[in-house]
Amino acid sequence: MKKLSLRDLEVRGQRVLTRVDFNVPTDERDGRVVITDDTRIRESLPTINYLREQGAKTILMAHFGRPKGKPVEKYSLRPVADHLQTLIDHPVAFSTDTIGKIPEEIISHMNDGDVALLENVRFHAGEEANDPKFAEALAKLGDLYVNDAFGAAHRAHASTAGITKFVKQSAMGFLMEKEIQYLSGELEKPAKPFLVIMGGSKVSDKIGVLKALMEKADVILIGGAMANTFWKAQGVPVGSSRVEADKLDLARELLDLAKKKGVRFLLPVDALEADRIEAGATARNTSRVSPTHGISDGWQAVDVGRATIGLYEEEIAKAKTILWNGPLGIFEIPAFALGTIAIAEALARSKATTIIGGGDSVTAVKQAGLADKMTFISTGGGAALELLEGKELPGIAALSERS
Ligand code: ADP
Ligand code: 3PG
Ligand code: MG
Repeated sequence: MKKLSLRDLEVRGQRVLTRVDFNVPTDERDGRVVITDDTRIRESLPTINYLREQGAKTILMAHFGRPKGKPVEKYSLRPVADHLQTLIDHPVAFSTDTIGKIPEEIISHMNDGDVALLENVRFHAGEEANDPKFAEALAKLGDLYVNDAFGAAHRAHASTAGITKFVKQSAMGFLMEKEIQYLSGELEKPAKPFLVIMGGSKVSDKIGVLKALMEKADVILIGGAMANTFWKAQGVPVGSSRVEADKLDLARELLDLAKKKGVRFLLPVDALEADRIEAGATARNTSRVSPTHGISDGWQAVDVGRATIGLYEEEIAKAKTILWNGPLGIFEIPAFALGTIAIAEALARSKATTIIGGGDSVTAVKQAGLADKMTFISTGGGAALELLEGKELPGIAALSERS
């Protein structure tokens, strides 16, 4: 599948409907919505600036939060329009409705190189239902369609998929292309050794990804709560740690699969155990785990231990390609964040291609101030995981084929 790229389109003078992922984290300060991390907005600037330079009329479409098909004031995109304006140093016309007379009027006054942002597409029920009527109403506002919303590409919604049926041509934006390149292209034939670090809360969320990566990886390092499920499957005592009790067979199946594929599948060799999950909890490093010794009764594994950190650092130092998804501990609590931070630092020191795939792991890398030390950080959460699993994403599949 070779999809059209923005570069393939003749955009001068055209109204280009551009889907972006502006679903950014926000906070309320003095009754005002403040954007706390504008990475997703900044990452869409190459596409927006290119469209402006080429003399297109850029009509941005985005979702924000989950307002469930009706207008909800706190999910308005107006603060995002204001912020974007300062980033591109050009006015951004904000349309208070997504379809109909209001955007039509605004768009009719746009000059080449101008930018408009439509109100949250999810204020209309037709968006998430992928209603053809809503998709057609969106399509009516432009001539061409560009999808740069990688983070929402796993959703088959009107503005990410349905709309392509009603426009002449639809193409990938530059961020979309970059995400596909790193999360799929680079990993097709990764420089070896290829190391995968998987953490996070649940094995069940990551089965597909783990299975898909076993085809390519040389080494897989496990951390986070999912390590507990693998431990329990091998008979290591886990105390009161978070475990997916109904996934023990699956964990064994994955361990067998790794053996069959010749992948070195490493579990933590020790843990930080705590008496409760709170900032003030008592925590201590366990000794080496084994089938007779693990997490103490009544205690929970909250992070990988010191020996595991050392072991994982050695593996990281040997790798040429590293993919990381999922924190190694409950990093939201600083006392339980050491394992996750140590891994982020080891990746930052490494000369390997380092790819961070989506979600909480990205937050952890940013909190550690190491984002600019990584080769690539995905803007997608669920979308990144689905692409790593090898799934076809509806937002990509719907785009025009390159002839
Ligand atoms: P990502 O978003 O990077 O894919 P996940 O959503 O799968 O990662 O998991 C992140 C969550 O896992 C974090 O909120 C973290 O607190 C939690 N977590 C990590 N280790 C543990 C643990 N040992 N016990 C309970 N929760 C954990
Ligand atoms: C995200 O934040 O992961 C994307 O913007 C998708 O949002 P959604 O999970 O509400 O569809
Ligand atoms: Mg997550």
